[in-house]
Amino acid sequence: MENVDGIVARALAEFSAAQDPASLENAKARYLGKSGELTAVLKSLRALDPEARRSAGQSINDAKSRLEAALDARRGALADAKLALRLAEESLDVTLPGRGRGRGGVHPVIRTWSRVEAIFRSIGFNVADGPEIESDWYNFTALNQPENHPARSMHDTFYVDLNDAQGTPLLLRTHTSPMQVRYARMHRPPLKVIAPGRTYRVDSDATHSPMFHQVEGLWIDEDVSFADLKGVYTDFLRRFFETEELEVRFRPSFFPFTEPSAEIDMRFESGPLEGRWLEISGSGQVHPSVVRNFGLDPERYIGFAFGSGLERLTMLRYGIDDLRLFFDGDLRFLRQFA
Ligand code: FA5
Ligand code: MG
Repeated sequence: MENVDGIVARALAEFSAAQDPASLENAKARYLGKSGELTAVLKSLRALDPEARRSAGQSINDAKSRLEAALDARRGALADAKLALRLAEESLDVTLPGRGRGRGGVHPVIRTWSRVEAIFRSIGFNVADGPEIESDWYNFTALNQPENHPARSMHDTFYVDLNDAQGTPLLLRTHTSPMQVRYARMHRPPLKVIAPGRTYRVDSDATHSPMFHQVEGLWIDEDVSFADLKGVYTDFLRRFFETEELEVRFRPSFFPFTEPSAEIDMRFESGPLEGRWLEISGSGQVHPSVVRNFGLDPERYIGFAFGSGLERLTMLRYGIDDLRLFFDGDLRFLRQFA
């Protein structure tokens, strides 16, 4: 068979030229497949006489075995090369120094938020959460500030161009006090809860930010008094500031939803504002008509509420004179708390 050796030589050359399993298997099909070249030669043997057929058959089978052996070897070589490549690509130098990772920190105001929660939880207060987009009714009306009440203009409000399902206008809540009403209408007394969260007003200077954080507090039962407010709040401040030596004053004030009402001020002990007073909270005995809006009988239930600024508490704790520092995102400032 003149051409068997030629076929074998070409097949071997193609096998070793194949650079991946698919081209190797294609080359195999061209020679050993059903219509491959060697198969065609084998088929042509039918035309020969038995003597010639045997010897030619012998040489074709030898050729076939050689090609199959070569195929196996090439398959193995390709698999080895693939593995070697992967190992090289994925090689890992365990002696290299680590890249390191910047360590984040909790924002000082959020740190205050968690400390406030921990302290109030430890004296039996629940922690509640509510919507920042609030209805006019919860934010104002239910708190004794009907439409056109002058006290509404004390809060320069961000109104939203939408109404709720009842047709009441929506706004960004100006304080956390609507949470008093939401919580009270969903729970049975005694009510003992704080509700920390974000609040919004058209305000901006060193002690006012358009977005700020308040924590609302509410304790309603059959005999909770203004004296309890003073006791609970002063105890909270002592634990928050980790000192007994605090200068705190309850300054008579007005809120439509409390009677009597007081603002709570504290004096800076250190830092650039040392000696200056800063208002941290509004507070008071919940007004009977607000208790009625809670769905409770004001003849039976009484108690206090407060709403404190988390930025203000943080300023006093660290002696910071400008609350805008909390929102500038300046790492030189923030890193000091990480
Ligand atoms: C209120 O918002 C009342 N809802 C508080 C209240 C609750 C009274 C329950 C009675 C009963 P006031 O507007 O004073 O009150 O705000 C309360 C505190 O939030 C302030 O003492 C101050 O600490 C903080 N605060 C108010 N406006 C801003 C602002 N723009 N930026 C940062 N903190 C603010
Ligand atoms: Mg105030």
